[in-house]
Order: sequence, then C-alpha cells, then structure tokens
Amino acid sequence: MARKVTKAVFPVAGLGTRFLPATKSIPKEIMTLVDRPLIQYAIDEARAAGIKEFIFVTSRGKSALEDYFDHAPELETSLRKKGKDDLLEVLKDTNMDSGAIAYIRQHKALGLGHAVWCARRLISPNEPFAVLLPDDVIAAETPCLQQMTEAYEETGGCMVAAMEVPPEKASAYGLLKVSQDIGQKVKVAGMVEKPKPEDAPSNLAVIGRYILNNKVLQNLNKMKGGAGGEIQLTDAIAQEIEQGRDVWGYRFRGQRFDCGSKAGFLQATVAFGLSRPELQEEFSEYLNELISVQRAAQ
Ligand code: UTP
Repeated sequence: MARKVTKAVFPVAGLGTRFLPATKSIPKEIMTLVDRPLIQYAIDEARAAGIKEFIFVTSRGKSALEDYFDHAPELETSLRKKGKDDLLEVLKDTNMDSGAIAYIRQHKALGLGHAVWCARRLISPNEPFAVLLPDDVIAAETPCLQQMTEAYEETGGCMVAAMEVPPEKASAYGLLKVSQDIGQKVKVAGMVEKPKPEDAPSNLAVIGRYILNNKVLQNLNKMKGGAGGEIQLTDAIAQEIEQGRDVWGYRFRGQRFDCGSKAGFLQATVAFGLSRPELQEEFSEYLNELISVQRAAQ
C-alpha cells in the first residue's frame, strides 16, 4: 500500500492575465464564487482528502491570499458581541492551525512546473504530495482529491486527474496516451502538453489535481522551458514514464469548472449559485426570466 498523502502544494503565483484588469491588484485565487474565494474550495477539498500541511507557492501581489488564512481578531470580537455565531462558524473554515501552512515565493512566473519545483525543500525524499490548482474547481459528491488518494493507496506511482474533452478543445490541455484502460483508472504511456490537433494521443485531458513524488521534483531540477517557454509539470511527469515508473490517470466523478477562464468562471458562478439553498429560488427565477426575454427577442 502506498504512503498516505498528507501534504499539498497550491501553485498560486501565476499572473492571471485572463482576468485583467481585476488581477492587477486582486489575486485570481481570491476571486469569489458566490461568497467564497476559489482558494477556499481547493482547501476544503484538500482537507476532505486528509491533507494536513499546505504549501502555497506565491508571488508579488498575493498578500491578500496570505491574510485570508489569518485570524481576524477585531472582526471576530465584533461578530461575537453581536451574537453572530453563524458567521463566526463560517470564518472558522478560513483559519489554519499554526504551522500548518507554509508560503514560498516563485520569483518569476516561469510556469507551473517551476512553481511546484519551488516547493522542493519542503517535501521529504519519500513523501508523496498532492498538487491542486485552485482555478480548477470541481463539484463532486466525493471531493476529487479524496477519490484520487483512495485510488492512489492501491496504485502508488504518480496520478493525475483526467477527463474526456471534446476533440476540438483537446489542444488546450495536456493529453494522455493510454496503454491500459481499467474503468476509473488508466495506465499512462505518455503525456503531451497542448499538442496540435493531429498530434493529440487521445481526448483524455489532465486537469489541475495531481499526486506526485520526489522523483518528479528531481526531473524538474534538470528541466529547461517546454511548450510556450514555460517549465511544464506535464513534461516532468512524462519523464517518469520514460524512466519506467508508473503514472496513472484517474477519471474522477464530478464536474470541473475552468475558473481560470472568464466563461468557466461564469458557468461556475451560475452552477454554485443554483446549488445554494438560500439563493436557489430567487436565482433560478431570475435565470428563467432572462431566458424567456432572450427567446422573445429572437
Ligand atoms: P495558468 O496557466 O492559469 O496561468 O496557471 P495564470 O498565470 O494563473 O493565468 P493566465 O493564463 O495568465 O490568465 C495555472 C496554475 O498554475 C499557477 C497559477 O497560479 C495557476 O494556479 N502558476 C502558473 C504558477 O504558480 N506559476 C507560474 O509560473 C504559472
């Protein structure tokens, strides 16, 4: 049985240019779906999967993210005085135990692979670790990372979350070449980052949840820029396969929203808004009205 995964890396040092001008001063990961920042969804998912230590790879301009996980004594006192216990309870989810969270800087946005590599000194040689990209938000009955850690306990190796994407969109993703397909799990024979449509090995795409080991960090150690000049995490995982070690794709059960893109963020806002009991009625009424007005205008 593979070792338990209790540490996770959250790369949050990207520039978030697709959300400019907002991301000029607000970290993308602090943008909210309904009333919770993207990062909170990722943290909750990690906690549900048994993660105890959280490593954030940050950069300049991300201090709002660091403050978010701090206690807010004045706010808490004021809520306590007013008897707002429900809000105090909501705030509890944002607090981290002392020492559970570590911040490390990526001095320059050199790519996701480089961001993960920046955390290398905080990960011991035989320790598996998860990587969660907070801009991939996954709605699932069993949180995605928990599904993966359960599967990983049997497989070991490396594991990436995978989902089928329409062929015309496949070149926007890292894609898996599959050697064995066993239900939720696929054995990976190769990985290509954003290939041309004619070079796509499948339409099974990698999305932002990974379980990795120290060997991937060693591969990153030796790497220079890949697709787009960035140091690609996919390339370092693909090297694992070349070196004869196992990499698994895991078809998770759930719906993934690409909150790093405007369309994906809006879709997630609608989906999460509709799933909140206190908003459901008013919001769905509004959407229905909007649709009928649009239909009438056509
Ligand atoms: P993206 O590819 O979405 O890049 O990164 P980005 O900079 O955040 O956004 P755009 O494309 O400019 O709009 C995927 C994840 O990898 C992190 C990002 O913070 C995000 O969580 N990342 C990316 C880093 O931490 N460092 C990097 O150098 C690049």
